[in-house]
Amino acid sequence: MARISAGVGSSHVPAIGAAQDNGKTAEAYWAPLFAGFEWSRRWMREQLPDVVVLVYNDHASAFSLDIIPTFAIGCAESFSPADEGWGPRPVPRVMGHAALAWHIAESLILDEFDMTIMNRMDVDHGLTVPLSLMFGEVAEWPVKIIPLAVNVIQYPPPTGNRCFRLGEALARAVRSFPEDLNVQVWGTGGMSHQLSGARAGLINREFDTAFLDRLSGDVRGLRALTHEEYVREAGSEAIELVMWLIMRGALGENVKELRRFYHVPASNTAVGHIVLTPES
Ligand SMILES: [Fe+2]
Repeated sequence: MARISAGVGSSHVPAIGAAQDNGKTAEAYWAPLFAGFEWSRRWMREQLPDVVVLVYNDHASAFSLDIIPTFAIGCAESFSPADEGWGPRPVPRVMGHAALAWHIAESLILDEFDMTIMNRMDVDHGLTVPLSLMFGEVAEWPVKIIPLAVNVIQYPPPTGNRCFRLGEALARAVRSFPEDLNVQVWGTGGMSHQLSGARAGLINREFDTAFLDRLSGDVRGLRALTHEEYVREAGSEAIELVMWLIMRGALGENVKELRRFYHVPASNTAVGHIVLTPES
């Protein structure tokens, strides 16, 4: 049977992708950030899963204000990197796992989570930047990827608690897939940041640290955080952190923290990263 072996949390700041694509990873501004992911790249090479269910949000690339799915799952055979205004990122095409994706879609919908099924979808920096951070520059991504897109752009996004419960249902879906597959779940976005308005540039290290602590400690408290608390404490774009709760919900009651990294700033954003494994 398929099993979930680990969860990864990571920011997906677009400028990180641009830094890698333009050969700037060794520059003083970026070097500490990329160095912070070296441990995880080594770990990933040793623990390489077959499939990553990659939870992210689209930034008006595949969707617009015409259609706003709360939760969407990519069931296609493959996905093109999106053109976000400067041409598509020069990264490999994202290869899906259609059989597992369709199984998850069916299981989630029958489990009363109303997923939008995407048979064609371009994937933007929300999905490709975490791949770059975890795998570096590669000719092809070494894993199959199932995109799971969450609306955190247009109010109202789903609650953190709803996301956590979706993660629990995702774990049930993966466990009931008959093929023996090693699956990871990644949650991306955040951490504290606000891109516009009077509070643009807001960073809250204390909030971010507490959030990372609570992923393996006070999960119940984390599930209860309201949209207002995310936005007030950590800035308007910090609402992306609800996507980390899908990853956390998929890992079960107890987890072990293998790695944590926190770095400020990257393009006015606090970058957070965590690697968790489920503990029975
Ligand atoms: Fe984002």
